[in-house]
Amino acid sequence: MKHSYLIKVIGVMAFAAVCLLQPVGVTRSFAQTTTHQDSVRMRWWAHARFGMFIHWGIYSVPAHAEWYMNNGHVPRAVYEKYAKEFDPTKFNADTWVKIAKNAGMKYLVITSKHHDGFCMFNTKATNYNVVKDTPWHKDPLKALSAACRKYGVHFGTYYSIMDWHSPYQGASDPNPEHPTYNPTHFKPGKKGAYIKYMKTQLRELITQYHPQIMWFDGGWMEGWTPKDGKDIYNYLHKLDPSLIINNRLTGAGDYETPEQQIPPNGIPGHYWETCMTINDDWGYNAADSNFKSSETLIRNLIDIASKGGNYLLNVGPTAMGVIPKPEVDRLDTMGTWLKANGEAIYGTTASPFTTQLPWGRCTQKPGTLFFEVFDWPKDGKLVIHGVHSKPERAFILSDKERTTLKVSRRGDALVVNVPDREPDKICTVVALEFAGKPVVYNPPVVGPMMKSFLSSTVFTISPAPGTEIRYTLDGQTPTVGSPLYSHPVTITDPMTVTACYFRDGQAVSGTSSATFTKLEAKPAVSLNGPSSGVEYKYFTGEWTSVPDFTNLKPVRESVMPDFALPKKRALQYYAIEYMGYVYVPVTGVYTFYTSSDDGSNLYIGNDLVVNNDGLHGMTEEHGIIALEKGFHRIRVGYFQSQGSDGLEVKYEGPGVGNKPIPIPDTVIYFKR
Ligand code: GLC
Repeated sequence: MKHSYLIKVIGVMAFAAVCLLQPVGVTRSFAQTTTHQDSVRMRWWAHARFGMFIHWGIYSVPAHAEWYMNNGHVPRAVYEKYAKEFDPTKFNADTWVKIAKNAGMKYLVITSKHHDGFCMFNTKATNYNVVKDTPWHKDPLKALSAACRKYGVHFGTYYSIMDWHSPYQGASDPNPEHPTYNPTHFKPGKKGAYIKYMKTQLRELITQYHPQIMWFDGGWMEGWTPKDGKDIYNYLHKLDPSLIINNRLTGAGDYETPEQQIPPNGIPGHYWETCMTINDDWGYNAADSNFKSSETLIRNLIDIASKGGNYLLNVGPTAMGVIPKPEVDRLDTMGTWLKANGEAIYGTTASPFTTQLPWGRCTQKPGTLFFEVFDWPKDGKLVIHGVHSKPERAFILSDKERTTLKVSRRGDALVVNVPDREPDKICTVVALEFAGKPVVYNPPVVGPMMKSFLSSTVFTISPAPGTEIRYTLDGQTPTVGSPLYSHPVTITDPMTVTACYFRDGQAVSGTSSATFTKLEAKPAVSLNGPSSGVEYKYFTGEWTSVPDFTNLKPVRESVMPDFALPKKRALQYYAIEYMGYVYVPVTGVYTFYTSSDDGSNLYIGNDLVVNNDGLHGMTEEHGIIALEKGFHRIRVGYFQSQGSDGLEVKYEGPGVGNKPIPIPDTVIYFKR
């Protein structure tokens, strides 16, 4: 994977896992960020839904994006020269803010100092800043903060904790000709000095530009701790109690910041913001023209709003101070859509539906449900399952006349008669108004999570107040005559459970189905006198998927205690095959996981249990297998192309626990 996003991606995966495994409202792994109860300070931010991220710095001169100093292994003294070439004579703060405003963006966050350490503001703490060290001698943050105030856009500043230029931080590989900075570490005894520098600059940012958001990054540098994060959080709130601070400060923060992705279920109970590039880079990269389409961007914004989050969409201005035209064009289209449909985005909350609508998304305001339709119904009938209340009025939001649409009921569903021709190809919003809060029934949830079993299992169906549950075991849609669910049911054969809520003899929800599969446990192997650890073979070469190791010649063979990456390894272009045995304590169904950057796979015996192959950043995949108590052959294949690397192998199951844990070295063996 390209950059070292490792830590953040793990964070992102942690919350994805939490969303899957924990009931809504459980906030365990987000304990450090502000929850919805604390909403007064966050009110404007949560209402805003859409903001502009700006990555601008002297990296726009070489024009290879903001990680160039690290990725191009540019020595400090060489990189510093870009400051002397930074003369953005075309910069105009009003133009930028008007672009944001016209796009429907309600706030803006600009890099005051990125990882390269160059300060894009007037600071007394270092001369390495835009006013002192460039031929331009101007302060863009001053102009932007003023323009934001003028046009009513909230202003925010990004600040990187990691600093590749700081005399207090050391590069991870300080090779003078070919340095690699990321991740930096505090030089011995210099942490205090850096924090002092940081505090001086943060105070300057607050007193000079009055940002309403402080957006931290780079907290994965070595030596930065949650305690340091908390200290800064408190320091900032003393300077400005209304300040909103993101979570990457670590240890404290007001909102989560999934990067380049939209969490499938949002982050219930917490404020969150997806930050995303408009092409593939944050800082200006002259070679990157892989712009997302306006349709994708608009639908991303809708998707995020339907999950209760904000969208911070990035632009990367050039060294002349110009936001590239393809970016402006896309923002312009977004603005046009928002002018007609903004009511369905700003100030809304997440969809009341727990499963994604097959044809679009939903957002809500008290008394109104907004349906954002991505796939317009060919027969002119929009079918909305599970809405029990009768709407008072339905209309197309962009229709200036607000012509009333006819709504009828078909079982649990409302059917809205919509025009045959789709009014807006990107997304048309159908609004339904109700007297009071509409009653919505989501399809029941059939448990447990594990749908595979050995001899028998017990299924449950979640209740909903005021309803009864009817279910079938043959895949048919339940009717009022189907069996009534009252308590957990034991099954011994594979089958599909289909369930639905009923009220007054009528189905009131959509149906949900769960298929239970019966497995046979794979026999254990006998293993006499195994040794602890796992054997591995290390290969070098360039791959785009896990290689077939059979005929490859390893560079090295050795033993590791577990499935960690060996300390001695190349930065890029290598592969590893791990071979050993795992001991499982009880006969039962186990889930195995790999998280890897790049690809990996996991075999038990000859069965491919986890396929996590391909070129990608830290990504988790899993698979299940039934195993007899005892030893089982396990093989993990892994490869690394470029950028950061990483591998984690976990499992869960009977005798292990119902949460994935790294397979401990106490159950890993090998036998030569
Ligand atoms: C990552 C990158 C950085 C970018 C940021 C935006 O942290 O290191 O370049 O500023 O993400 O989310």
